[in-house]
Order: sequence, then C-alpha cells, then structure tokens
Amino acid sequence: MLPVELVESATRAAFERYGSALLQYGEPQGFAPFLKASETLLNARGVECDENQTFVSTGGSGGLNNIAMAILEPGRTVLVERPTYTPAMAVFRGYGANVVEVDTDQDGLRPEALADKSVRYPGAVLYVLPTFQNPTGRTMPADRRADIAEVIRRFGTLAIEDDVYADLRFRGEPVRSLYSHAPDNVVYLTSMSKTVAPALRLGIATMPPKLLDAVLRLKPGIDMQTSTLPRRSVPRSSARAGSPTMWRGSSRRMAPNSAC
Ligand SMILES: Cc1ncc(COP(=O)(O)O)c(C=O)c1O
Repeated sequence: MLPVELVESATRAAFERYGSALLQYGEPQGFAPFLKASETLLNARGVECDENQTFVSTGGSGGLNNIAMAILEPGRTVLVERPTYTPAMAVFRGYGANVVEVDTDQDGLRPEALADKSVRYPGAVLYVLPTFQNPTGRTMPADRRADIAEVIRRFGTLAIEDDVYADLRFRGEPVRSLYSHAPDNVVYLTSMSKTVAPALRLGIATMPPKLLDAVLRLKPGIDMQTSTLPRRSVPRSSARAGSPTMWRGSSRRMAPNSAC
C-alpha cells in the first residue's frame, strides 16, 4: 500500500540532482518547487493562494502546533466540534487555551450553536474538520459549510480547517473546502500522511500572509524547518507529486476493493 518504489526512486533522483544539499538545513517556509507543486492540490480543493500564504509543515500535527503557537495565549478560547480529534485538544491546552465544545448534528458543526458560543467567547478560534471528520467520519455538506462561513465572517473568527483526509474519498463528489467560502478567516491544513506516507512528515498549511509571517518567525524555534530530504524528493519524484491525480492514485491503492 505504501509507495516504497516511488519514494525510493524519488530519493535517488533527488540525491543525483541536489547532492549533499539534501542533507543540509533549508528554508523554514519550504522548498519552492514543493510549494509550487502543492498549489495544484490546494487549488483543486478551492484553496486559492499565493506563495506568501503557504508553508511546508512537519505533517499536519506540526502545522497545527506551528499555528497554535502563533495565535494562542493562555485563556484564549478554542471552539471545537463535539467530538473532535483528541490530540489537537492537547495541543491547544498545552498553550493554555480554554477548549470549548460546540454541538454537532449529522451534518457536522451546528451554525446556531457556533453563533451562540461566538457571542459567549469573543475572540475565540475555531478548530474544525469538515471532511471525513475524526472521529465520526462525517463530511459537512456544501450548504452547511456556507452557513458556518457566514458565522465566522460575522464574528471575525479565525478558523483552522484540518483537512488531512480529503483525498481518501472512494465514492461521491468532493466537497470544496471551508476555506473556499471564507479565505480571509480560515487557516487550511493538510498533509501527505494519509495519501503518500506518514513517515515523510510532510504537511501543507495556507493562511492569511500576516499570520504566515508570525508562524515563520516561530517555526525555527520548534523544528528549525521541515526535513529537507522529503521536501526535495517528493516534488522531484514525479511532476504529479502533490497533484490530485497522484493523491487519488494513493487512495485507489487503499480502497478495499479498488472500487473508487
Ligand atoms: C484530524 C487529524 N489531523 C491531523 C492528523 C495528523 O496528521 P500527520 O500525520 O500529518 O501529522 C491526524 C492523524 O491521524 C488526524 O486524524
């Protein structure tokens, strides 16, 4: 299931091209060709952005930590779905945040419940998983995303959209990201862990440029940079790396009976 040969040949090709630079420190924001390759993938999900908005993170978890460090201070509230991805709550609490659950239904986060909590906790950040939510597996339909986007715009809320499972779709049509409904209010996080290989520790995070500046000032103190080797190998591995086609190929490999 894991693309051993692809990663092997990509790494070899990257060493032939970059030599020892592959084992050196690199840029905190990310390797430019990788960022370029990521654009194809992001655009397909309705995440329109330029190079001042995206950085390569150490997996989705690393990206979440980078962002949490930049935006949270003790006492700030983070609104989360009930239930949500437990490790994220630990990260938010690690920065002293007050984590508050918001009611959900079969379509995910309830807009009225979010509005109520936004009144009660001014300045709160929202953490939301609209596609293949962990742990419920639910996907928020497009009209619900539009309603949630209206609430976050109304309250000036910053939302973190954690979208690591988007390309693990075996049937049905993809639903455009929450980011596509409210680009000024949403930080979009995704990762190659579920579609290429988790050990690569490659994530992609897109956000308003001012926030990216703050994140990149802090990132060297957390992990200096995301590892140079996978960042330079993956886009070289094929022109398709980071493209929806390659990612869909991965989910097809994982489909129980290849019926996607
Ligand atoms: C919702 C969610 N976000 C983030 C992650 C972490 O992803 P990564 O392996 O890229 O750090 C996971 C992993 O299971 C997850 O379920």
